[in-house]
Amino acid sequence: MAIMRVPSSTQTFQPVLERIADEIGRTPGRGRAADYIPALAACDPRSFGMAVAELDGTVYGVGDWREPFSTQSITKVFTLALDLAREGDELWEHVGREPSGNPFNSLVQLEYENGIPRNPFINAGALVVTDRLQTRTGDAAGELLAFLRAESGEPSLDFDHEIAASESAHGDRNAALAHFMASYGNIDNPVPDLLDQYFRQCSIRASCADLALATGFLARHGVRADGSRLLTRSQAKQVNAVMLTCGTYDAAGDFAYRVGLPGKSGVGGGIIAVVPGRCTLCVWSPGLDERGNSVAGVAALDRFTTLTGLSVF
Ligand code: DON
Repeated sequence: MAIMRVPSSTQTFQPVLERIADEIGRTPGRGRAADYIPALAACDPRSFGMAVAELDGTVYGVGDWREPFSTQSITKVFTLALDLAREGDELWEHVGREPSGNPFNSLVQLEYENGIPRNPFINAGALVVTDRLQTRTGDAAGELLAFLRAESGEPSLDFDHEIAASESAHGDRNAALAHFMASYGNIDNPVPDLLDQYFRQCSIRASCADLALATGFLARHGVRADGSRLLTRSQAKQVNAVMLTCGTYDAAGDFAYRVGLPGKSGVGGGIIAVVPGRCTLCVWSPGLDERGNSVAGVAALDRFTTLTGLSVF
């Protein structure tokens, strides 16, 4: 198959996005929306949107790319960056950076590994990161929301209180993870406060356009939309590397094989991805595979890197 020309400043990503949307629209089998959080189960699995943001903030999109959806675990990338910017390498004494090979909400490795989660993107690791950001800011979820609003240029982004309440009502497993880590001294804040922050974090609604823009700092080697620096170049590389190896849980190997980009999924059906030095992407389609990744989302990113030849490899 011919590789489409990579857009220069006089061309756009629009034709490749339209081709992908057309192909996805003709593909049956979209998986199933997450139902362990009842408020997510109502999503239409046939929704599909995709956006690409260039480094200067130019955005291209197709389908439902302006429709806000539940960001869920995608937020773990931003809390990791916000905490790493504040505390630096000390964070890595409290959370590892190895793929877990286990489901995102698994408890099994934590006891063998003395309450230190494998990586910041499984739920246990994300709880540690949010706890540490909470200690440093007094309002981890508020800090995250302010960051997403600023980077996307969309001040109306907000928490979804129905999703947060639904998750809280079905949050026994996250509570178990947090209490278990607290027993090893790896959680600083009272567990109910931490869970409240974490569930609000996951409940933020944003569109593909918002998230592609908000991820831009990872393609700009740590530099925010306003030109200020959030992460050092080396830290931006570290976050991208952890996304590549751990961002899609026990499917990270397959995602790297098919897509070849740092990526992070959420059970709302969104996936963000980074082409360092070039652009960022966000795709959304609520139907998930058995590992919690969007079926059409992974397929669309797979097609994007195949058609454009843009990948980290
Ligand atoms: O902790 C949870 O169960 C959810 N709020 C977030 C899970 C999630 O998105 C995992 N991703 N694929």
